[in-house]
Amino acid sequence: MSAQRKLRLGMVGGGEGAYIGNIHRNAARLDNAWDLVAGAFDVDPEKGRAFALSEGIVDDRAYSDYKALIAGESTRKDRVDAVAICTPNFTHYPIAKALIEAGFDVICEKPMTATLEDAVTLEKQVRESGRFVGVTYTYSGYPMVHEARVRIANGEIGKVRTAQVEYPLEWMATGIENKGNAQAAWRTDPQKNGRGGSIGDIGTHAYHLAGFVTGLKLESLTADLATFVDGRALDDNAHVMMRYEGGARGLLWSSQVALGNSNGLKLRVYGEHGSLSWFQEQPNELIHAPLDGHTQIIKRGAEGLCEAAQVRTRTPPGHPEGYLEAFANLYTGFAEAIHAQKQDRSPQAIAQHIPTAYDGLKGVAFVEAVVDSSEAVDQPWITPVAV
Ligand code: NAI
Repeated sequence: MSAQRKLRLGMVGGGEGAYIGNIHRNAARLDNAWDLVAGAFDVDPEKGRAFALSEGIVDDRAYSDYKALIAGESTRKDRVDAVAICTPNFTHYPIAKALIEAGFDVICEKPMTATLEDAVTLEKQVRESGRFVGVTYTYSGYPMVHEARVRIANGEIGKVRTAQVEYPLEWMATGIENKGNAQAAWRTDPQKNGRGGSIGDIGTHAYHLAGFVTGLKLESLTADLATFVDGRALDDNAHVMMRYEGGARGLLWSSQVALGNSNGLKLRVYGEHGSLSWFQEQPNELIHAPLDGHTQIIKRGAEGLCEAAQVRTRTPPGHPEGYLEAFANLYTGFAEAIHAQKQDRSPQAIAQHIPTAYDGLKGVAFVEAVVDSSEAVDQPWITPVAV
């Protein structure tokens, strides 16, 4: 990528003790594309300001809340170029809406909003405003995920028949939301999380990954949600059957209660003459099984990989890259997309195939459809005769 000035980043949420904010900060720094210069990092204004100062942010850019951030930054010559939203789901919409109205670009966590209505309104606002909004569908930052996408688009496994995707986690296998776990507390509150529990939190990643790699467009779905932890208000396990346009089928499982799975995201795509498999815990490898039985492990960094994989690779094969690098690929892609937009030119490869507001909308629409399907009274459950 040619030299560009560093973009100025602001952040809302992601303060002391928060999970994803620190990942964003590390990702933004990795390729020197961003400087974190402003923030409203916490729902508690004083804690947020103290955290900003501890991050080296100057006093007058350590804001008490996002409204103060917008007011303060709007009048500065060196105002932030974009603001990352790292707060619980229900706050994404009002914060993103206000930022776009004030003329800022946005990097928004998934799910883009907590309701479909907000997602539809926000995506329209983004289109009409011309602002850039990137949505952090993390797994589309991995080089070998791009390699799989390009190979499928080039017909390497033939017409896709099925996409099997699963995203099991174990951390919510007991009622930790009632024992002081802040992350679990808002994730199990429908007002703060939205209607989809595991499906909104991680199923949305799995749905995006399967669609991104296969290029398939979802036609319809049927779903079965379950809540295994007593007293929990939202699903903690979801099974979804999908029909894609053109006849391909999909099967998606998301779970927050699957003991033994730290972060078990797995995608397997089966075509007419081969399959490709990618497992998030071994992200440097892609498994290709062609019809002739000569299964091959394709390694990140190897010669001959597609340009989209190469531009997302920093180290040679054998020196593993992972989650932070994938997240950094998104951040560097977002930076390049913003530069290209400012300079009215086409974006370079790192900013192509990056997740934006339309992906955010599709993700929320998927979650809504899953919950609607599971709640539908006429869902066809048939008991076999021999039972
Ligand atoms: P968290 O509970 O660890 O952190 C939330 C932070 O937001 C806290 O610092 C809290 O004080 C702050 N906050 C809440 N309301 C605020 C407001 N109105 N203004 C300013 N700050 C506010 O949550 P976590 O796990 O970091 O999740 C945050 C978001 O990131 C969620 O939307 C979640 O779905 C998403 N996420 C995405 C991941 C990915 O792979 N892309 C992984 C984990 C979370």
